[in-house]
Amino acid sequence: MRRYLLGILALLKYCICGDVVNFDGDIKDFVVGNSKLFVLTDHRLHQMRHDLYEEKRKDIINATHHNRVNILVPFDANGTLITCGTFEDGYCEVLDINDITNSIYYESNILVGPRQKDKSVAFIAGRFLFVGKMDEDAKPQDSLFSVVSLLSTLESQPGGIFSRIAEGSDASIQSTVRDVEFVDGFQRVSPSESYLFLNAKTDYGRKVHIMWMNSSKEKKIHIIKSLQAATIRCCSDKVRAVLVACTVIPSVNGVIWAGVFSAQNQQDPENSALALYDISNVQGRVKGFCAYDEKPCGSESGSELQPLSVVFKYSSMSAVAAVRNGSWIVLFIGTSDGQLIKLVLDEKFTPGCPTVLFKSDDERAVFTRMHFDPVDFKHIYIALKKQLRRVSIVQCAKYSTLKDCRAAQDPLCGWCVNTHRCSTQDECSDTSWVSITKNSFEKQLFSFQMTENSSRKITLYLSLSLESTGNHAFSCAFTRGTTKLCDGADLSAAFPDCSCSFSDQMLYTGGLKVSATVTIEDQKITEMLTLRNCSSITENTPNASYTQCVQCISSGCHWSSSSQRCEWTHGPGPQLNIKDACKHLLSEMDYSISIGDSCLHRMRENTNYFCLSSQKSSGQV
Ligand SMILES: *[C@@H]1O[C@H](CO)[C@@H](O)[C@H](O)[C@H]1NC(C)=O
Ligand SMILES: *[C@@H]1O[C@H](CO)[C@@H](O)[C@H](O)[C@H]1NC(C)=O
Ligand SMILES: *[C@@H]1O[C@H](CO)[C@@H](O)[C@H](O)[C@H]1NC(C)=O
Ligand SMILES: *[C@@H]1O[C@H](CO)[C@@H](O)[C@H](O)[C@H]1NC(C)=O
Ligand SMILES: *[C@@H]1O[C@H](CO)[C@@H](O)[C@H](O)[C@H]1NC(C)=O
Ligand SMILES: *[C@@H]1O[C@H](CO)[C@@H](O)[C@H](O)[C@H]1NC(C)=O
Ligand SMILES: *[C@@H]1O[C@H](CO)[C@@H](O)[C@H](O)[C@H]1NC(C)=O
Repeated sequence: MRRYLLGILALLKYCICGDVVNFDGDIKDFVVGNSKLFVLTDHRLHQMRHDLYEEKRKDIINATHHNRVNILVPFDANGTLITCGTFEDGYCEVLDINDITNSIYYESNILVGPRQKDKSVAFIAGRFLFVGKMDEDAKPQDSLFSVVSLLSTLESQPGGIFSRIAEGSDASIQSTVRDVEFVDGFQRVSPSESYLFLNAKTDYGRKVHIMWMNSSKEKKIHIIKSLQAATIRCCSDKVRAVLVACTVIPSVNGVIWAGVFSAQNQQDPENSALALYDISNVQGRVKGFCAYDEKPCGSESGSELQPLSVVFKYSSMSAVAAVRNGSWIVLFIGTSDGQLIKLVLDEKFTPGCPTVLFKSDDERAVFTRMHFDPVDFKHIYIALKKQLRRVSIVQCAKYSTLKDCRAAQDPLCGWCVNTHRCSTQDECSDTSWVSITKNSFEKQLFSFQMTENSSRKITLYLSLSLESTGNHAFSCAFTRGTTKLCDGADLSAAFPDCSCSFSDQMLYTGGLKVSATVTIEDQKITEMLTLRNCSSITENTPNASYTQCVQCISSGCHWSSSSQRCEWTHGPGPQLNIKDACKHLLSEMDYSISIGDSCLHRMRENTNYFCLSSQKSSGQV
């Protein structure tokens, strides 16, 4: 009885809080720290549990005093939440991260964040606080502006908490560019490095810059002096000179970063592009940005960063976040028309089909910053004007068969053979989980190859593009009409491969239609295969074409690029996909169309998918 009650209570705890909260003001910013969320609206700061249950709230504005909070930074190591605002001449307050109504420290007459502008960046770098903002206090005659400052975070540090003072002078990066807009900034923990991203508007036009600093240095002055900067370019098809949003993609080797760039023309269906860059080695300086008293302030050196890959284009993306799972990258893209799109990239940064996780009914723009649930990492929070939503990033449960689960092409979903469900790995035992393979964007679920030996026996090797660490009951059956294709004795099967042999007499008639049925535990998948005489595919045409090459590969044969002929394969082995085997027979333009086709093909396999208009136009989506 007691256990029963507890069960109900536990259930209640999770059910009373929905996945959406509507605030009474627009959301200005929100951050995640210490398994909690802190949501800032026009006039209140809310402390929420990760399931969106509100724990505390704090007014930041009252009847007599105007205030705008412009810095909101969780400082987990200190157990505090740093807030600063514009009240009177500015102030900063250190709050207890577990109870924001508990103020630990308050300092007035200090303006840390921007006075008017919305866009600024602030984040903790070890024992310091980086703040990047446009210098609003500059006088018209000034030629040098302070754009990044490094503040102390503890009273015990030289100069005290919130002090800008470094050894000798202010710890700041200066600029000759008046119009700068900070988009985002990140702290890498190991090694300790700080990154800032900004848009600069000069007489010569707009540019996107990255700043890097070595924050493992002991002294502020040395951190500031370690400044390296570069210009980031997007993209080869069209100049998109404004950075809208960005994210660092967790990676073992190097630092991969994704940015949303805009050409600032909402009418253009390809106005914004999402591009990936390797930012692990920023070297040099950019014109107009310098540390301390360098003269002239930053002369251009080093190279521009070019994209590793442009993975998505759309009329108006507004936000991006990423998770990594092994070699897979899963991107979440927010749009100005209120959609949350999920896009999976394989290890070559090739995108799969975008899927829409959420769409708002009234097209409110998704707020630039999105955060993952700090507790389960299976949800992402998005803000849409007054609304905060917790959206599930894995929706495996909607696929009810192994085939559909695999067609979803989601590395976070796999078929769990013992629960008979499509689920995440942690909801399954390790050996029961059947997932997609590394190259699954390039492969169909079924692929086959054929060999012929000297006694004119054909062997058909069938391979399923699936992966698992467990042993599963696995069998295959090949039939033509009602008769079996091969002798039972010749049939061998071990997950995920099987093979069988038959006499080549069967192929005399030309194409032989065979039905292949594969059974994995209780899941039965049937596919029709068309078997052909490999030697006859290019028989009468010495100069083979792309179409013949495609026919050759899709008939399970080998394409010899030296003799331009289709041949029997030499046995089961890694089969080249059509794209790689036949691309030399295509002009570049046709090539991009053929990539789009593979995406369309996946759409046909699974109706839960749709591709956005942007992918028709180029090989990039
Ligand atoms: C408004 O806030 C200020 C500063 O916190 C405080 O001094 C003042 O008493 C408050 N006024 C009201 C009406 O709550
Ligand atoms: C957090 O910062 C405050 C303000 O500097 C300081 O008084 C306090 O000791 C710090 N707490 C920890 C746990 O570092
Ligand atoms: C950063 O600074 C530390 C301490 O001075 C140094 O050991 C390290 O090599 C520096 N890292 C880079 C990439 O310069
Ligand atoms: C990512 O992959 C690992 C195995 O490579 C798995 O254990 C883990 O559960 C996956 N993460 C998520 C979020 O599914
Ligand atoms: C040809 O393959 C069949 C079926 O696997 C096998 O029985 C036969 O021995 C093979 N012949 C030669 C010459 O390898
Ligand atoms: C396959 O095609 C080659 C070349 O045309 C021909 O020599 C061979 O007899 C054919 N084999 C069968 C079984 O039809
Ligand atoms: C085959 O290609 C070669 C080289 O491209 C060309 O010289 C020859 O005329 C072509 N033959 C036919 C039959 O198209």
